[in-house]
Amino acid sequence: MIEKIKALLEEVSNFTTESMDEVEAFRIRMLSKKGEIPSLFKDFKSVDPSERKEVGRQLNILKQKATERLSSLKTRLEEEALAKKLEGRKPDTTMPAGFNPIGGRHPLSVVRNRINSIFERIGFVISEGPEIEDDWHNFSALNFPEEHPARDMQDTFFVSKDPDIALRTHTSSVQVRVMETQKPPIRTISPGRVFRNEAISARAHCIFHQVEGLYIDQGVSFADMKQCLLYFAREMFGKDTRIRLRPSFFPFTEPSAEMDVSCNICGGPGCPICKYSGWIEVMGCGMVDPNVLENCGIDSKKYSGYAFGMGIERIAMNIYQIKDLRMFFENDLRFLRQFKSAI
Ligand code: DAH
Repeated sequence: MIEKIKALLEEVSNFTTESMDEVEAFRIRMLSKKGEIPSLFKDFKSVDPSERKEVGRQLNILKQKATERLSSLKTRLEEEALAKKLEGRKPDTTMPAGFNPIGGRHPLSVVRNRINSIFERIGFVISEGPEIEDDWHNFSALNFPEEHPARDMQDTFFVSKDPDIALRTHTSSVQVRVMETQKPPIRTISPGRVFRNEAISARAHCIFHQVEGLYIDQGVSFADMKQCLLYFAREMFGKDTRIRLRPSFFPFTEPSAEMDVSCNICGGPGCPICKYSGWIEVMGCGMVDPNVLENCGIDSKKYSGYAFGMGIERIAMNIYQIKDLRMFFENDLRFLRQFKSAI
């Protein structure tokens, strides 16, 4: 039997052909149910037990070699046939171009761009600052007292202590940088990412986006601010929008206010979106505190100005009726695709 196996092994390793039919004929002769190799397996029962181990081993090698040989011949012939078929063919340049899916802007970018362009139309220029800030620009220059709770570990992500470096908690830090380096008149808006150590939920996140506004010149009044913000509200939420300013407090503005806009869903009477109040809270604002002007090297006797700051997520949630803030950060395409046509 060993002789027979050896002869077949030799035949297998010498076998070559250019025809697929011959490959198939060889397969049938060697490996089909009644072929040479399965027949040897059948005869294996009659092999002397002392020789079984070696014969079994050789038989398995034969079967493996035959299978490999056939499959490599088959692959080679198939590849040659394909190459022959494609020979001389040129790409068809008249074929219509393939479809390339186009992406869309992220809804936060859409809203930020709209806010930017509303203010750019009335002479504001965009300025940006670093996301990693020092204590001076994020807090001290903005008149935050030493023991102010916003400086607390609970709210701020610190990068280092002494010197105090942290992720900025608001874009108001950019107003300080602008005032330190530019002379009035200043009209600027500063969009950007901010960070706070908050538990993530449907209404809060540790990363979000703000747009800060700053206007400094001689004789700037609270009335100027009100007119500017009314213009913004009407451009953003519709021409019939009304605004209301409620007294508030920020260390960097005096007086300070919170601005609400009439609910853009119900228009005023009350609905679940405005929690039946008719108003939606949109931003903080106020007259820049003279201490802040002085901290930044601007003469507070000569100049005055207003500042405001708003959260982009909050406005986007309102405009698009998005109930969960986390959607903005998950980048689920089913969500993002809905804003494809927005610019
Ligand atoms: N920085 C404030 C915040 O993060 C927002 C703000 C309020 C900015 C009033 C201002 C302002 O410029 O005048 O909550």
